[in-house]
Amino acid sequence: MSDDPAPIPLRIDRLPKDLQEAFRELYTTNGQSERKTSAYLQPDAIYCGDARQLLPQIEPNSIALSVWSPPYFVGKEYEEHLSFNEWQNLLSTVIRLHFPILKPGGFLAINIADILVFKDQTMPRIQAEAVTRKRSPVTREDVLKAIEQYPGYNRYQLAKLLGCSEQTIDRRLHGNNIRGGKYDVQTRVKIVGGMVEDWALQAGFYTYDRRIWVKDAAWENSRWASLSYRSVDEFEYIYIFWKPGITRFDRKRLSPEEWKNWGSRGVWYFPSVRSNDDHAAKFPVELPARVIRLLTDPGDIVLDCFMGSGTTAIAAIRTDRRYIGIEILEKYVILANNRIEKEKGYQRTLFECQDDDRFE
Ligand SMILES: C[S@@+](CC[C@H](N)C(=O)[O-])C[C@H]1O[C@@H](n2cnc3c(N)ncnc32)[C@H](O)[C@@H]1O
Repeated sequence: MSDDPAPIPLRIDRLPKDLQEAFRELYTTNGQSERKTSAYLQPDAIYCGDARQLLPQIEPNSIALSVWSPPYFVGKEYEEHLSFNEWQNLLSTVIRLHFPILKPGGFLAINIADILVFKDQTMPRIQAEAVTRKRSPVTREDVLKAIEQYPGYNRYQLAKLLGCSEQTIDRRLHGNNIRGGKYDVQTRVKIVGGMVEDWALQAGFYTYDRRIWVKDAAWENSRWASLSYRSVDEFEYIYIFWKPGITRFDRKRLSPEEWKNWGSRGVWYFPSVRSNDDHAAKFPVELPARVIRLLTDPGDIVLDCFMGSGTTAIAAIRTDRRYIGIEILEKYVILANNRIEKEKGYQRTLFECQDDDRFE
């Protein structure tokens, strides 16, 4: 189905013994079994549906790179129906389904962030003493002395006696100022990298690299501006997994300046998308564009099975790669197709201008 040169055959005998067994059918039959090539999802299109249903319809060993950003389990519209178990199930299944469709030597790049406000029923309440907020001069000793003098007094009577609020009495006695209300479930940071790596290893991949993307400090999203020592949300990860096989190395993919500035750097700096008015969680084109330029060649097929507003497709078009997109919500498929049409129009204009220049 593609004009690619024939892939260099994988030396299956050079894999560890257990992998030789596990991969033999996939590598020797090209995983094609009975299916016809025309039945596979064709490149340069976005397909509406659940990634778990559509990934098996992609031609085995055909994808040079899959780069995507999944639901992060932070309660967005497209994930609010998922329990934590269902979310884990979605991600682990999607990762597993990637193994047969990636080219040997190809990559899976996952952009994800830790869950900063993860509800944990078992977590004890954080008790914070907000020292800078103490306004009443009444001390714990004052309250204890008053209780000794008037043992039958409740906190309202004590408050009246000492000229403060009953909350102050409560705080001085119990030292607690409970974040988010007394009966709310507590939240903590949930680190996702370990889970993602386990799912990828179980699927047959190897962890190849990880990068940090420093975006911008999202103060407005911070739910703990006060009464906490936690940091604001300002970076995400890109985990890169490798499917065993022959990987082409070409230093010319980037200029020496680009290798120095970001190609060989573990930390990437570029801002996130400022106005998210048409999609709740777009990543900037720069993110998939860097991964695509680093890990693929022109003409390769790039997959994004959580395509959202079509950013990966835009990056693929700009870098002369083909793409396959999958997105569950129809409204985002429409949005992505509109962006792609606009991008193609823009590329045509650019080409025509260059063409005109040539004849001037
Ligand atoms: C974090 S967003 C990706 C945004 C995208 N990178 C962009 O720049 O627009 C995740 C996307 O995955 C979609 N999605 C959620 N569950 C899905 C599933 N099971 N199969 C396919 N897409 C899904 C959501 O509708 C959402 O658009």
